[in-house]
Amino acid sequence: MLLMSHIPRTAVITGAGSGLGRATALRFAAEGCRLLLIGRRERPLLETVTLIERESLNGQRCSIAAVDVAAVGAMEEAIDNFAATYEVIDAVIANAGVNPQRAIAHETEDEHWDETLRVNLTGMHRTVTAALPYMMEQESGAIVTLGSIAGQGAMAARAAYGPSKAGVIQYTRNLAVDYAKYNIRANCVCPGFVITDICRAWVEGLSKSERQAIEDKHPLGLGQPADIANAAWFLCGPDSRWITGVDLSVDGGYQA
Ligand SMILES: NC(=O)c1ccc[n+]([C@@H]2O[C@H](COP(=O)([O-])OP(=O)(O)OC[C@H]3O[C@@H](n4cnc5c(N)ncnc54)[C@H](O)[C@@H]3O)[C@@H](O)[C@H]2O)c1
Repeated sequence: MLLMSHIPRTAVITGAGSGLGRATALRFAAEGCRLLLIGRRERPLLETVTLIERESLNGQRCSIAAVDVAAVGAMEEAIDNFAATYEVIDAVIANAGVNPQRAIAHETEDEHWDETLRVNLTGMHRTVTAALPYMMEQESGAIVTLGSIAGQGAMAARAAYGPSKAGVIQYTRNLAVDYAKYNIRANCVCPGFVITDICRAWVEGLSKSERQAIEDKHPLGLGQPADIANAAWFLCGPDSRWITGVDLSVDGGYQA
């Protein structure tokens, strides 16, 4: 089998208006990728494009689409439009995710349960399946999903988020097995704590000692968005061409 041996020239990144998705967009742009940036709202996506342009990082090659990744047909339309220009979809970073409530099982509200699974699982699935036909046709592609340390092992009060991220990890393994014959790889990045919008307010609400306890679980300290972006870039490029189906902890030693 001919393993993918070129660096990605096009990539789709969801949740690209903030946090890890924005950092990933900056990294892929710096490497010369044409990007389709997806997010719920247009303004944060335009801010990401401005940042890319400010760094002279290829901003003119960014497309944006403000869509709900979980909405039926939304990702297909966005990716079809992008592919109409660039033809090839080398990489997909299914990064959009939510954690609307930190609660134990019987205190998890239905709406938060539903939204967590809807975005983290259904949204990821719709993102990936919108790109797969192109990757199958071109017989190459790299998919990176965003799991979490909360999906690799149980964290307190993550009754919806934890299972959703465990599902992301397992979904990615299934992709790896089912699509290897098309030379498509799928890997899951599992971050430890990186202070972004998804957890900032919660972390700020903790006491000093609670915050310290979280930091202490990461032997290398908390991470930066670029640490996740670097892993995503590695997993989409030729240096990882024989790696598929893994959940890669990028967590400063948390899992160790
Ligand atoms: N920051 C961390 O500590 C951490 C740790 C483990 C995993 N993660 C995962 O990393 C990913 C990125 O999170 P982040 O830390 O950058 O947080 P973030 O809140 O800054 O980013 C999440 C992004 O997803 C977008 N999004 C949410 N729902 C969407 C929808 N329905 N349609 C389109 N876009 C949607 C948001 O607008 C936002 O831009 C998430 O999947 C998250 O679960 C983060």
